[in-house]
Amino acid sequence: MADLKFQRPKGMHDLLDQDWEYFQKVFNVVSAIAKLNNFERIETPILEKRELFERGIGENTDIVEKEMYCFKTKGGDDLCLRPEGTAPVVRVYFENGLSELPQPVKLWYFGPFFRHETPQAGRYRQFWQFGFEILGEKDYILDAQVILISLEILKELKIENFVLKINSIGNSCCRGYYKKSLVYYLKKRKKGLCQNCKTRLERNPLRILDCKDEKCKQIVSQAPQILDYLCEECKSHFFKVLDTLEFLEIPFELDPFLVRGIDYYTNTIFEIQDKETGLALISGGRYDSLGKILANKDLPAVGAAGGVERIVEILKEKRIFVPKEKFPKIFVAQIGELGKKWALKICQQLRENKIEVFESLGKDSLKAQLKLADKIKAKYVILIGQKEALEKIAILRDMETGKQKEIKFEKIVKEIKKLI
Ligand code: HAM
Repeated sequence: MADLKFQRPKGMHDLLDQDWEYFQKVFNVVSAIAKLNNFERIETPILEKRELFERGIGENTDIVEKEMYCFKTKGGDDLCLRPEGTAPVVRVYFENGLSELPQPVKLWYFGPFFRHETPQAGRYRQFWQFGFEILGEKDYILDAQVILISLEILKELKIENFVLKINSIGNSCCRGYYKKSLVYYLKKRKKGLCQNCKTRLERNPLRILDCKDEKCKQIVSQAPQILDYLCEECKSHFFKVLDTLEFLEIPFELDPFLVRGIDYYTNTIFEIQDKETGLALISGGRYDSLGKILANKDLPAVGAAGGVERIVEILKEKRIFVPKEKFPKIFVAQIGELGKKWALKICQQLRENKIEVFESLGKDSLKAQLKLADKIKAKYVILIGQKEALEKIAILRDMETGKQKEIKFEKIVKEIKKLI
């Protein structure tokens, strides 16, 4: 191992070619489904103003309190690496006048996000997400549609071992009543809560509902449930969503203690969790209050985002998807100065004709070149030596049968096209 002075930052990873094949697979599935559902592609900057997330995600959330990468620019701007994509999309909606378009506006994205979390399996500091957002309409059917799209992606990727968990956290009004009742219940049992939840009790009591500590879990199991506190409007909205899922024959688990680590949600929230690890693969919900928070305008909206690494890990582990080897591979080998130049020219001609070719033009030894051709499992080798270069004739060798024949330079492209 080289005496490497620098390693990649903790919780971040390099994506090598073989990883890209998997990312590309997820991208292809997501973009095809986005297209079929008339979503338009959007890419927002990696950096945004810190305040966008502080206000959008909520000051008392773990993301804002502990996980954002923020810095001051030389010009004095307070920026941070985006920890999620929904707040930026809502910013775009208002900043680019998307409210003038026919509603709802449907947008999707695919890119890297950053959270300074404790790295562990399936949890990284730089991770990729794909996301879908439907902005500008409140109808319950859109909540079901986002869930359906999320499930469609997993189905298309042949991922099966998951559970859809769903809950409603009402609007700020009914959630307010619920919070009071929850805090009243929890305060009486404060002693039994873990240290973290004791602090949460003051700052963000809903997060206690999904604490993984066994003692907290036990206390929570008897706690008041938000569904009993929903106002008529929120209850009706949620029941219509559940009714639609039943109509679509989508199995779900109603989880009255499901909460999300982001404050902008209203009404429906959901997570599609891997049954084995419990990790959320795709999660989201309705966020009707975010427009008000960011632009003082009403903007009903719903969306979801999926973790690409988490999905890729399942594809790899279960061998659901195995990148195909590109066959047949063609290798162009050369000997001598003139051979080398002609090899470059012929490679170029093949590539102009969209034929992928391998070469090692920087190597002079034919033995070394053929060793490489063998290593990449090339099916054909086009050999151009000094003599061949002068006569403008190459040798084409079938590496499997050992048979070889001569081809005129001007016929190489046509001949190779016939073979592949
Ligand atoms: P989120 O649940 O924070 O929601 O993240 C969405 C997905 O990103 C998760 O379900 C998970 O698969 C993946 N993910 C999150 N954090 C990490 C991490 N540290 N490492 C690896 N994967 C991770 C949101 O971000 C919302 N913006 C989703 C949304 C869109 N809600 C409405 N529209």
